[in-house]
Amino acid sequence: MKFFRKFKILGTGSYLPEKVLTNADLEKIVDTTDEWIRTRTGIEKRHVAAENEATSDMVIEAAKVALKNAGIAASALGAIIVGTITPDTMFPSTACWVQKGLDVPGIPAFDVSAACSGFLYGLEIASSMLPAIGKPILVAGSDLMTKVTNWEDRGTCILLGDGAGAVIIAPTEEDCGYLSSLLGADGSLGELLIQPAGGSRIPPSHEVLDKKLHLLQMKGNEVFKYAVRKMGDAAVKAIELAGIDPDEIDLFIPHQANIRIIESTCRRAKVPMEKTHVTIGWHGNMSAGTIPIAFHDAVTSGLIKRGSLVLFAAFGAGFTWGASVLKF
Ligand code: UT7
Repeated sequence: MKFFRKFKILGTGSYLPEKVLTNADLEKIVDTTDEWIRTRTGIEKRHVAAENEATSDMVIEAAKVALKNAGIAASALGAIIVGTITPDTMFPSTACWVQKGLDVPGIPAFDVSAACSGFLYGLEIASSMLPAIGKPILVAGSDLMTKVTNWEDRGTCILLGDGAGAVIIAPTEEDCGYLSSLLGADGSLGELLIQPAGGSRIPPSHEVLDKKLHLLQMKGNEVFKYAVRKMGDAAVKAIELAGIDPDEIDLFIPHQANIRIIESTCRRAKVPMEKTHVTIGWHGNMSAGTIPIAFHDAVTSGLIKRGSLVLFAAFGAGFTWGASVLKF
């Protein structure tokens, strides 16, 4: 087995806000039905952050669990990377707020903006930084989507949820880490899934609020088509680069935006649904939080053991995508 880059995942963690919003709850907010949401997306419920909760609060909780499982103190960390598109503040970065919360001043801390692919982007960057840092790195993926959701748009509000997942990775000589990892993007398609205002292109104004330009907009059908193609291509390529057969994959953890996208990716990658960890029913699409939360769940429930081969694949706004094969 040839490693693209060795590193060890010392521990994983996740956090989900207490409040749960079911499809039945959504029936009271927009013109939809539980049946439509289940059959068209696979989602049954999602978690919603409290009013006073921000992305860094969720990441700090997930990080504490990951540090405990890794058996290390926050003071042992060499860097903090957070994949998010819903930062606490435009600046400082969410990673800096997390650093403050964990009380580990001095170490580098920064965010990665790659939407639903944010965790895979973060893990790729963190693993390449490990030799220089020489200490464990906290990599988190988290989004608080419900605060950028248009609750009058039934095409998007039924999809989204909040949560955070985290891993602690460390340098190693053991046979674990990436067999393959690839990232990609196509910025020419950015308008199809976008939070138009709030940045330097369209700064906040009364007009922005009136037109709800500070909230997520998506051309669902178009995004669906690209998601199916790009996530499928990326998964196939990651398996090919790893030099393994698809049936050697022990568990597939895809980004979870729609059960039909997951099923299609499985068919393309020749990985059966039985070997795919599907969490969309319980959480909906939590953007960058989705994969690390599903990963932590798979590790704690014993679906992934030391030595397991795990396939990741993600697709999101940008567009961005990524896929990797990892030996745990
Ligand atoms: O995180 C990565 C990026 N995001 C994604 O990958 C999401 C990709 N897109 C999707 O998952 C799907 O496109 C959606 C779930 C958003 C929509 O499903 P769809 O099967 O593509 O539906 P559609 O947009 O083609 O709409 C079909 C019908 C429309 O009604 P008419 O025009 O046929 O009368 C919609 O108005 O379904 C209607 N519709 C709904 N009906 C009940 C749309 N949303 C809803 C809803 N409840 N919530």
